[in-house]
Amino acid sequence: MAVGGARKPWGGRFSERTDAMVEAYTASIDADARMLPHDIAASIAHARMLGRQRIIPKKDADAIVRGLAGILEEYARGEFRLRPELEDVHMNVEARLAEKIGAAAGRLHTARSRNDQVATDVRMYMKDACGRAAAALLALQAALLDLAEANKRVVMPGYTHLQRAQPVLFAHHLLAYVEMFARDHTRFAVARTMADESPLGSGALAGVPYPVDREAVAEALGFAGITANSIDAVADRDFIVDFISAAALAMVHVSRLAEELVLWSSAEFAFIRLPDAFATGSSIMPQKKNPDVAELARGRTGRVAGGLVAALMMLKGLPLAYNRDLQEDKPALFEAEDTLLSTLEVLAAMLPRIEVDAQQGKRAAAANYSLATDLADYLVRKGLPFREAHEAVGRVVRYAEDRGLPLSRVPLDVLRKHAPLFDDDALAIDIASSLRSRDVPGGTAPRRVAAALRAARKRIDALSAPGRGRPRKRAAKR
Ligand code: ARG
Repeated sequence: MAVGGARKPWGGRFSERTDAMVEAYTASIDADARMLPHDIAASIAHARMLGRQRIIPKKDADAIVRGLAGILEEYARGEFRLRPELEDVHMNVEARLAEKIGAAAGRLHTARSRNDQVATDVRMYMKDACGRAAAALLALQAALLDLAEANKRVVMPGYTHLQRAQPVLFAHHLLAYVEMFARDHTRFAVARTMADESPLGSGALAGVPYPVDREAVAEALGFAGITANSIDAVADRDFIVDFISAAALAMVHVSRLAEELVLWSSAEFAFIRLPDAFATGSSIMPQKKNPDVAELARGRTGRVAGGLVAALMMLKGLPLAYNRDLQEDKPALFEAEDTLLSTLEVLAAMLPRIEVDAQQGKRAAAANYSLATDLADYLVRKGLPFREAHEAVGRVVRYAEDRGLPLSRVPLDVLRKHAPLFDDDALAIDIASSLRSRDVPGGTAPRRVAAALRAARKRIDALSAPGRGRPRKRAAKR
């Protein structure tokens, strides 16, 4: 990068120009350029307040505001050229402002430091990012509901230890993910609250020696309030950790879903077929159709978890107040956001297009003695203590397994030998009765699942309603 030799705002104290290597090493412009709109909005609010409070001449404040608005237009038109030798977005904007309006630009940085400025910008950016993450999580939940509703009656084996355990509705399994992503949605709301205080007025670290109106600036920028301690305000990046933590956990949830999609689409499970548009082939094996989207979603979880560790380590042992280490907050934040949003988006597009093999689900749900618990519960309803029922059915399973029989083919007299309480109604136990019997709130009984689907849809629609973040992109029904 050809940098070096730019005139610095701190030039007064320095006898040498900054080494080009140092400029390249310390620059953050590649990362923080995306905060330019926030930086300008914060500067406009600050300049207006300076004018109102007579801290700078009114006409200079007006010129600054006009100049900044002009820079924002240049940026929107793609005409604003960022200069890496100017280190970061704040100094790029200020330098351009000086080109546009001359000496008055030099008054913008009155009663402000880059320390409270960058803390303000990144909080504003992160609040927006929380809204984007929340909207993407709602869209993914809606996609899961679309898939569940399109396959309302499909059963599959529920697993523990990845061993077939008890039959469940496919929709019930998907609703488990809806719950996870609903909690993630809440976590981003909490993270947003953590970022929702304005640091402006904290200056470099001690506050500023001017009669600033901190509350007015906070209000103009849409903050709920102002930070309480100037040292903390410039040193705090907890809110970044909160965001990346929420993103990492959401990605962990995504990776569990992705792993199941990989398993389900394999010949071994064969529960689902992925849409061709969301799968890839092999360059050597003509028959292959690979679940690469799910694999990469699973694989990219590590990036975000890594960013979380990076952010925690950035803060660990850092003395108060501002240290340049804190500049590392942005790459971690932005990478977490980008990875999360792109992953949620592609999954939300893919899920409603998945084809589910109901026959295969049913075959698998019925196999491997998955109704054994139901037989034991049958005996319990007839009065046997559960432990004894478990033992008796265990012996029945052993008998059946030795002869290669399903439970439904074990003769009644054999059942009676192991537990005299068995009657011929025991032979009526099947997947449907098993599902129906789990009729508790949160259970897999079809009427409970239908109610859970309705409740989830209602909650998601309410949260996605206009005025509550961006409207949800309703996935196309098949
Ligand atoms: N680019 C810097 C950051 O992201 C801005 C603040 C610089 N402040 C300073 N005292 N050098 O943290």
